[in-house]
Amino acid sequence: MDYILPYLEQAGALIIASPIYFYGLTSQVKALIDRCQVFWNRYYHHTQAQKNIPGQGALIAVGATRGEKLFTGAILTTSYFFKALNIEYKYELLVRGVEEFAAIREHPQELEAAYRLGQSLVTPTAP
Ligand SMILES: Cc1cc2nc3c(=O)[nH]c(=O)nc-3n(C[C@H](O)[C@H](O)[C@H](O)COP(=O)(O)O)c2cc1C
Repeated sequence: MDYILPYLEQAGALIIASPIYFYGLTSQVKALIDRCQVFWNRYYHHTQAQKNIPGQGALIAVGATRGEKLFTGAILTTSYFFKALNIEYKYELLVRGVEEFAAIREHPQELEAAYRLGQSLVTPTAP
């Protein structure tokens, strides 16, 4: 975290990318998010200036099934994480029906969408 936190503090753009495990983000990415309570504390108690640079963020998630609420947990966790970091939840790419190793390669449209999402995130928009 000592290595990662300065990057998060300066981030103008951030993407959380995760497969869905038991209707949520993976434990690995959740562990990182849980170590960011310091940002939420600052935000909630207004004890300190929030992260200086406002940013824009996106969620990319894949799951095997087609359940209606498949991404609900991941969206909630990511959007509250972004809020604590002063990052706007701007884009999401949510892909159903992806299960096997490297199966996403059989979804060229989704790969293209991921590329465009990344581009949009770093392309300045007119005020
Ligand atoms: C522990 C575990 C839990 C999973 N839970 C879900 C789930 O709740 N819903 C779903 O649609 N897919 C679930 N999956 C399937 C994964 O989302 C899917 O296979 C994904 O492509 C795996 O990505 P990975 O190979 O990078 O781990 C689960 C897979 C694992 C290993």
